[in-house]
Amino acid sequence: MKQIHIGIIGGGLMGREMASAFARWCALMDVTVQPVLVAVADLNPVTLEWFDRIPSCTQKTTDYKALLANPEVDVVYVAVPHHLHEAIYRDVLAAGKDLLAEKPFGIDLASARRIQEDVLASGRFVRCSSEMPFFPGAQRAVEMARDGGLGRVLEITCGFHHSSDLDPAKPANWKRINATCGDGGVLNDLGMHACHIPLRLGWMPTRLFAQLQKGWPQRPDGKGGMTACDTWDNAVVHAWTQLGDDEVPLRLEMKRLAPGATNTWFMEILGTDGGVRFSTAEPKTLHVFERGKEQWWKRTELGFGTSFKTVTGGIFEPGFPDVIQQMWAAYLMEREGELGDRFGCATPEEAVASHEIFAAAIESHLHRRVVDLSSPTSR
Ligand SMILES: NC(=O)c1ccc[n+]([C@@H]2O[C@H](COP(=O)([O-])OP(=O)(O)OC[C@H]3O[C@@H](n4cnc5c(N)ncnc54)[C@H](O)[C@@H]3O)[C@@H](O)[C@H]2O)c1
Repeated sequence: MKQIHIGIIGGGLMGREMASAFARWCALMDVTVQPVLVAVADLNPVTLEWFDRIPSCTQKTTDYKALLANPEVDVVYVAVPHHLHEAIYRDVLAAGKDLLAEKPFGIDLASARRIQEDVLASGRFVRCSSEMPFFPGAQRAVEMARDGGLGRVLEITCGFHHSSDLDPAKPANWKRINATCGDGGVLNDLGMHACHIPLRLGWMPTRLFAQLQKGWPQRPDGKGGMTACDTWDNAVVHAWTQLGDDEVPLRLEMKRLAPGATNTWFMEILGTDGGVRFSTAEPKTLHVFERGKEQWWKRTELGFGTSFKTVTGGIFEPGFPDVIQQMWAAYLMEREGELGDRFGCATPEEAVASHEIFAAAIESHLHRRVVDLSSPTSR
């Protein structure tokens, strides 16, 4: 199998998650490429030590530019705080490497647009990380939306909830501070997850009204003191999108203060003839609405029906590490020109469009008005 050499910049939560997806690549049955982790860069030497368990990862450096100078590295995955995205992504492209960028793809809309300009100028293969659509239930929802059997679409909801911020005693990190997370706060943190499928289906909002909420104004700083936390923690975006002649309500929800939720991504599409509902809270279960003489909500257990086949039995249930691996399979196979009709990773254009939504949501909340997105370049 053709090997693709990967370098990771940022070996924290997501850097390690990706490394472990490569380590069990043998689970995949129908891919022609294999990622091999050869290098990692992180400012923290203790973080780098974790990568000692991956024998192929021979370059461990605190200087990401040393990783970019390594001719062995083909593709770079970057998972660093948002205020560093632009500089590092542009350095990756300048070094002539392909890139799997983390969301939100720059700290704000202007930054995302500058990155996108460099992507186009470089000609490199670039995608943005967003793994939730790779759940089999999400894929089925996309198929059902595309095949037209839902009738006239009445409303669409997509969201991502967790409850990490309910506890005021939890220490702050960079995700709770605007300077490092961005003025979008939770929009930057969770927004790409909510926007990816609607954008892929062409459901860009034409106008929207948003409600944003802050979390706790200060948190322990982990060093015995307190630090200010100024990010938006919850965002509900009430949008309209144009489907043919109909203007259809589209609700996007991103919450870090959602009681009881851990990492719950969900999507619902309701039409006059059919509907579909999927949530990662029930990872192998799909709810389908059908209308005949009577009406039914049917529950089906999809099991492990991922796009890229694996050794895992079809009756088992998929989880977060599985969809991370499916996303990487999609990235690497698309890079080879072998994705076929499978669902691909979020594109730079989709990442910029998600930032157009976030910028409009902030404007809407601050001015308490509906914002028109029909000419987004003016924003
Ligand atoms: N796709 C997902 O589901 C998902 C989930 C969580 C986070 N993320 C995204 O991943 C990115 C990172 O988030 P995280 O949760 O892994 O953060 P994290 O804080 O756990 O890890 C970030 C790492 O970057 C390192 N770092 C900081 N500056 C650096 C530099 N100049 N050079 C090299 N390393 C540097 C830090 O030392 C740290 O280890 C963010 O963009 C975040 O939005 C995505």
